[in-house]
Amino acid sequence: MFRWIVWLLIVANTASSLTANTAKLGMYCFHECYIYNFQSKGDIFAFQHISNNFHVLNLENVLMKRVRQRILERLPPFVDTLKIGNSNQLKWISVPQALRNLHIRYSGLRRIDIAANSSLSIFHIFSSDKLMKVPPAIKNAPKLQYLRLRECGLRKIDLAIFCNHAYLSELLLDSNKIRYIVNTSKNNCTFYNSFTRLVMSQNMLTTVNVELFNVFVNLRSLDLQMNRITSLSGRLVARFLEEFGVDSNKLEHVDLCGWDVPLMDTVAFASNDLTTLPKCLNNWTSVSKLFLEHNKLTNFSIESVAGWNNLTRLSLSCNKLTDIVLSSVHFPKNLEFLIIDQNYLSTLDLSFIPVQSLRVSVNFNLISSFDVNNTSPNVTRLSMMGNSVDCSWETGLEQLYGECIRHHAFTLEPNQQANICIAQKAKRMIYLYI
Ligand SMILES: *[C@@H]1O[C@H](CO)[C@@H](O)[C@H](O)[C@H]1NC(C)=O
Ligand SMILES: *[C@@H]1O[C@H](CO)[C@@H](O)[C@H](O)[C@H]1NC(C)=O
Ligand SMILES: *[C@@H]1O[C@H](CO)[C@@H](O)[C@H](O)[C@H]1NC(C)=O
Ligand SMILES: *[C@@H]1O[C@H](CO)[C@@H](O)[C@H](O)[C@H]1NC(C)=O
Ligand SMILES: *[C@@H]1O[C@H](CO)[C@@H](O)[C@H](O)[C@H]1NC(C)=O
Ligand SMILES: *[C@@H]1O[C@H](CO)[C@@H](O)[C@H](O)[C@H]1NC(C)=O
Ligand SMILES: *[C@@H]1O[C@H](CO)[C@@H](O)[C@H](O)[C@H]1NC(C)=O
Ligand SMILES: *[C@@H]1O[C@H](CO)[C@@H](O)[C@H](O)[C@H]1NC(C)=O
Repeated sequence: MFRWIVWLLIVANTASSLTANTAKLGMYCFHECYIYNFQSKGDIFAFQHISNNFHVLNLENVLMKRVRQRILERLPPFVDTLKIGNSNQLKWISVPQALRNLHIRYSGLRRIDIAANSSLSIFHIFSSDKLMKVPPAIKNAPKLQYLRLRECGLRKIDLAIFCNHAYLSELLLDSNKIRYIVNTSKNNCTFYNSFTRLVMSQNMLTTVNVELFNVFVNLRSLDLQMNRITSLSGRLVARFLEEFGVDSNKLEHVDLCGWDVPLMDTVAFASNDLTTLPKCLNNWTSVSKLFLEHNKLTNFSIESVAGWNNLTRLSLSCNKLTDIVLSSVHFPKNLEFLIIDQNYLSTLDLSFIPVQSLRVSVNFNLISSFDVNNTSPNVTRLSMMGNSVDCSWETGLEQLYGECIRHHAFTLEPNQQANICIAQKAKRMIYLYI
């Protein structure tokens, strides 16, 4: 039976009487153990009070500059997870051999040492902007599976540093200042087979040669969102890749010809400067969700995604579409959501839509004439507010008997529309992983 153990221990710290620092050591355990204001080797005695049903220790507000190995080595063997938080004074830490999970957030860390043959498997550092590179000591952690360095100060990444990590599966380097991804390894590395997910979102990449990733034969997810990418070169061969996010960049055109990604499922090209669809995109027939909103497309034909029998969601909002072709025998037959809000469409033909059930959203366009009587019953919901004619319906009955409302008052001018799009764009990033 699970017993709750809650207790509190507050002692006047000897060091604090010598310095002006009055923070006192505090401790409690409830689901996880917490120790506050750890500030000297003498505080190790608190570790003895962790009972053996607690596996997670949180050290909050560590007041030491350096936490040496001989301190954390004294953690009881059943504590396999250490979380250090809100410790700006902490600059240097030595990770003992036995620790398996380490999470550090809001620290002043510049240096991390790791004991040889470390058991570290999950390692997450968050918001520690003095950390300028992947700690070289990472080579001592051959069992590493998950590494995330988020909101640190990384400028460049050399994939060679992970060469001997035979279990490394996920590498997340989001929200750094990375401009370059390089590979100085002379050989193939052991992590090429184990690797499944690379996240480089919110960095400063400008050009990416995707062939760098071709050695990751089991790659499932590649996230390059929110960089400054103007060019994607090379041909990606990733036979298991399911998610590809390159939204919120500066791409004007993309050439996907020769890419071999037969299991692709979720693709985000949103928030770029595309004036035409990526070349050879039509070949990506396995895709189920395609995000193309916030670009500069002026026309679109549903035939561009002909044969995409898995496609369920297509979004084209906030482009410059004046023209769209939807009525077609090549309509992707399982499409459920089509979103074309905030474009410049003046007409819409939904007369022939060979799918089971489609919801269409064309809010805030410039549609002034629409023939409800000539609309496919397969369109089960239509939302068209903010047009000068609004024939929205939510049920088949409404479609049959509903009337269209004409109004001019709610129609946005194109420049107002553009401003809404810009405001939305600033906030959005597509969530690939749900
Ligand atoms: C490495 O650590 C494991 C336990 O995690 C141990 O079994 C093994 O003997 C160690 N190897 C070396 C070379 O120290
Ligand atoms: C790095 O370069 C080496 C030597 O050319 C090559 O074998 C390896 O596949 C490259 N790794 C990556 C990640 O591109
Ligand atoms: C790396 O592996 C790939 C695929 O197995 C192979 O084509 C390439 O020659 C290897 N490179 C080196 C430097 O061993
Ligand atoms: C189309 O996709 C297939 C399978 O992913 C790939 O082998 C082929 O190279 C692609 N063709 C083009 C022109 O992109
Ligand atoms: C659709 O997805 C399924 C798996 O969910 C896959 O087996 C099938 O090949 C995909 N269809 C196409 C046209 O790629
Ligand atoms: C869209 O317009 C461009 C020229 O602006 C043209 O090359 C292209 O074929 C058009 N695409 C469709 C689907 O009509
Ligand atoms: C409605 O969809 C079915 C397939 O689900 C198709 O056979 C039929 O032609 C469609 N009708 C119209 C008017 O779009
Ligand atoms: C649709 O047809 C009905 C009669 O079936 C007619 O009363 C109505 O005015 C028509 N609506 C439009 C927009 O043409």
